[in-house]
Amino acid sequence: VLTLKEAYRGYFDIGVAVSGRALKTDEGAFILQQFNSLTAENAMKPGVLQPKQGVYNWREADSIAAFARRNGLKLRGHTLCWHQQVPAWFFYDANNNLVNKEELLRRLQEHITTVVTRYKDVVYAWDVVNEVISDNPAEVYRNSLWYQIAGEDFISKAFEYAHAADERALLFYNDYNEISATKRAKIITMIKNLQQKGVPIHGVGLQAHWSVTEPVEEQLDATLEDFSKLGLKMHITELDVSVHKKEHNARQRLPTDSDTLYTTEKETAQTVAYKMFFRLFRKYRKYISSVTFWNISDRHSWLDYFPVNKRKDYPLLFDKNLQPKQAYWEVVKFQ
Ligand code: G3I
Repeated sequence: VLTLKEAYRGYFDIGVAVSGRALKTDEGAFILQQFNSLTAENAMKPGVLQPKQGVYNWREADSIAAFARRNGLKLRGHTLCWHQQVPAWFFYDANNNLVNKEELLRRLQEHITTVVTRYKDVVYAWDVVNEVISDNPAEVYRNSLWYQIAGEDFISKAFEYAHAADERALLFYNDYNEISATKRAKIITMIKNLQQKGVPIHGVGLQAHWSVTEPVEEQLDATLEDFSKLGLKMHITELDVSVHKKEHNARQRLPTDSDTLYTTEKETAQTVAYKMFFRLFRKYRKYISSVTFWNISDRHSWLDYFPVNKRKDYPLLFDKNLQPKQAYWEVVKFQ
């Protein structure tokens, strides 16, 4: 059987987001068959790594790094600066007042330097800054505590700190909803500004949390075309394809964990979508060097727990028993 990583050898790496626990189960051996790159789904985020100031918790991240080293897998680091899964202590002093910009940047620098240095030998690319562009058309940057305290400067600083800690690491800006022309334009403008200022940025990460209805082909082609013009590496960093239509993502409660949600109709639509997505990834192979799935199989997806969804999803290429789905065969078939 042709596996994903074999089918795409010479095109791009095929990655997967994992927990430390998954690597110790039957999924560990399965990953070695199908994938050649890993991302820690949560273990390398600041909230896990440095829950209290100066108190690092390396356990899960170290186990994933060790698995990558032992088995010769690539490892993408995710993520150094984000508005979620970041502990509150970053932003407050001992009296519970917001820290000033200098102090916040000092804390960010300490965190980035420590983390990047620790995994220098194994992490070849970092999602340095994650999701700082707003989804609201009326504003450019997300109004996070990072932004409120430090303005946009924390973005360039994060890249500089990471580069100082490992000058060989490829440094990425990573975001979702990249298929929206409005948001994409803002992401591209920000990246161009960073490039003009000489900030060490080497790649753009497209998360690719998509669905059976979005993006359509023209939209995806325009997306990949626009980003390819930046002259940076492109990584597809968090690919999954929800089988639920947009309208069902909007707080409509559907029954949980019932395979009746995954109809033949949905599986067919998903197969068509996956086939088109990979055809376009191959079209842009000169620019795309890595495609990572956000989770291993339909046994577990973050979409199952996403608070507004409240229903099981089936977004990946393998079913709960790690068996290839229809979409898998289209993805490895190249037509
Ligand atoms: O570990 C705790 C556990 O101790 C606790 O009992 C349990 C109770 O809810 O929560 C557990 O933490 C959860 C963690 O995942 C580990 O499972 C958090 O609540 C939950 O919020 C967290 O969700 C993660 C999410 O990022 C956080 O925003 C998802 O697993 C992870 O897939 C998701 O990944 C993000 C990317 O990093 C960035 N792009 C979007 C993507 C999907 O949201």
